[in-house]
Amino acid sequence: MDRRNFLLASTAGAAALGVTGLSLAKGKAQTASGFDRTNDVTARSPRMTSGPTREFRLVAAPGEAEVGPGEVYRNWMYNGEYPGPEIRVKEGERLRIVVENKTPEGTTVHWHGVPVPNAVDGVPGLTQAPITPGESFTYEFEADPAGSYIYHSHFGLQIDRGLIGPLVIEEKTPHVTYDRDYVLVLDDYLAGDPQSLSSTSARRGMMGDGQEGGRRRWWGGGRQGGGMMGGMMDMERQMPSYQGLLIGGKLPTDPRVFETRSGERIRLRFINPSGASTLRAAIGGHRMTVTHCDGRPVEPVTVDSLILGAAERYDVIVEASNPGVWPIMIATTQNNVPPGRAVLRYTDAAASTLRDGMPEGFRGGRQLYYQDLQSLETLPQGKPDRVFDLMLRGGMMGSAWTINGQVYPDADPLIIHQGEHIRFRMRNRSMMVHPMHLHGHFFRLGNALKDTVLVQGHMGRAEFDFVADNPGRWFFHCHNIYHMEAGMAREVRYV
Ligand code: C2O
Ligand code: CU
Repeated sequence: MDRRNFLLASTAGAAALGVTGLSLAKGKAQTASGFDRTNDVTARSPRMTSGPTREFRLVAAPGEAEVGPGEVYRNWMYNGEYPGPEIRVKEGERLRIVVENKTPEGTTVHWHGVPVPNAVDGVPGLTQAPITPGESFTYEFEADPAGSYIYHSHFGLQIDRGLIGPLVIEEKTPHVTYDRDYVLVLDDYLAGDPQSLSSTSARRGMMGDGQEGGRRRWWGGGRQGGGMMGGMMDMERQMPSYQGLLIGGKLPTDPRVFETRSGERIRLRFINPSGASTLRAAIGGHRMTVTHCDGRPVEPVTVDSLILGAAERYDVIVEASNPGVWPIMIATTQNNVPPGRAVLRYTDAAASTLRDGMPEGFRGGRQLYYQDLQSLETLPQGKPDRVFDLMLRGGMMGSAWTINGQVYPDADPLIIHQGEHIRFRMRNRSMMVHPMHLHGHFFRLGNALKDTVLVQGHMGRAEFDFVADNPGRWFFHCHNIYHMEAGMAREVRYV
């Protein structure tokens, strides 16, 4: 099925994505502050079939996309688009998504963050067999709860081949009002094929004889002279040599333009389906009021910059009160990849040239921290029935990435029982940050609900609680796909 048929199948609501990949939604009546704190967002309808079924078709196939002038990305993508087409539905509707595999490998699709029934969670070898080349698989689940999500391949390193896209479930009654609604898909750009950090490739990197020559060269940027120390530095920064950062699939040389007019309120949904990058995001001339974290509504908090680990999402409201043409910037916190940039353009502004310079959020300003997040929903309280202490390690001498010394799939499942209150306590004995993600559940982190949490390097810690309310065999893993692939994963199994 081609792009036109995808649009037909997805009905009128998604038609706006046809031209620009953007969508536009008109907000509801404004309150004075623009934020309605009286909505009872905790009273979600129970999961039952209610709304109409919305059908989509995703064809994973080799394709080409222009990410900048003359810069053609050749890899795999959904429906010939990179990032994949925006899937946008309303809370309470039912989603039926037929995935067709026209790649030469197996594949699956995971609906990151949506607590779907286990059988449609899209984890190969755990919840389903891979969809073999030429075959299709139908995923069907309730669009519930509302939020900003990601869909992506869960097979091998296919995220860094381009098999990613945004999934938006709109609220019936948002606690914020806005005039426009844009999704910003943030990504790291890897022009070549992704390659595992296997011990042989890692050792070759350490010895300084890794494959050279542009995009195939694995060990990028940060080499600090030769010898052992240089090698060690590289080991600790083991990352693919990404060539740049993209917003909406575009490099800064051909940026996406997001339009607004003075006086509007814009909802921006930042989502980070990148393979391995932790990103800072900020907007020139504007502050951002964070309203949702990993899709869940939070008490609005106004900041200058956000940090998004791989797979994290934040929705913000921006008040269009500073006419001009402004940069929306992202930069990695980890290595030397050049920054990404999109443009926020006032259609009613006199000036039409981009204001240069770093947004305030890159020069200090207020950064969002997890402690700033205050959920508007009911959180699990009290003592856990079961606690898991999980030590994250790895990255030395080209070794595996481990949880409590075990390398998935040669690893014990974490056994839980339905109805239990579970706590995961993680400590990070490696030098790299790990975005740890639990499938099938939201967890409480501090006072927020999330599905992915950054555990900082150098003995960083994090702990979260969740209620075992969605039986099945669930994946828990680092969302740096190279770490996941090198063993930093576990099964969470209900018995
Ligand atoms: Cu975004 Cu295992 O998932
Ligand atoms: Cu990791």
